[in-house]
Amino acid sequence: MNMIRCGDYEALSHAAAEFVARQIKEKPSSVLGLPTGATPLGMYSRLVALCRNEALDFSGVTTFNLDEYYPIKRDDRQSYYYFMHTHLFSGVNIKKENVHIPNGETADPEAECAGYERRIAQSGGIDLQVLGIGQNGHIGFIEPGEALESATHVTALTPNTIAANARFFESAACVPTKALTMGIGTIMRARKILILVSGKEKTAPLQALADGKITPKIPATILNAHGDVTLITDQPAF
Ligand code: PGA
Repeated sequence: MNMIRCGDYEALSHAAAEFVARQIKEKPSSVLGLPTGATPLGMYSRLVALCRNEALDFSGVTTFNLDEYYPIKRDDRQSYYYFMHTHLFSGVNIKKENVHIPNGETADPEAECAGYERRIAQSGGIDLQVLGIGQNGHIGFIEPGEALESATHVTALTPNTIAANARFFESAACVPTKALTMGIGTIMRARKILILVSGKEKTAPLQALADGKITPKIPATILNAHGDVTLITDQPAF
């Protein structure tokens, strides 16, 4: 695992955006896997600036988001659909038809997950998967202790994740209890992985990841079995 230690969150965001920009310049038709959460916000705002000021070109890029709450309306301010359009897609020249986010409004979540997995395969597979990490070591919504399902699937959120995400909702009771998430196989099939770890709440999962072990109690540690992972951290996380 290639580790880049940054002094602070701003430097982490800068390094992450440069990493993604390099991928797009090297392969303008890149397929990107993208995360939500507080961690990638700085990276997204820099990518928007790079697109506006330095003509970073998203016109050939295809994206697949890692996950979405279920059920949730697209126009709900807490949906990942809303998040991605607010923080990235509205600010870059990506084609609408190239943006993919699991549909939190579907009446048939299992069919939605199977279709999502198919669309990833039809796109040629993910070139670069960007990830955050949960305080409990989850990636996407692949939660600790659940059987590690390979493909995109419906999952129940753990109390820890619901508590961590309650900061974005009126209360913990308003956080959806389920999600549609890429599976561990979906993530591990990406040709390259970039994981961003920021803040003191992430010290424990970062330590486990950096130790090189693999345990289902900390799903992110499976990344130690992938051959091309770059980890960018900031000072408070280590
Ligand atoms: P955060 O979430 O970036 O808001 O800490 C990361 C995650 O839960 O994967």
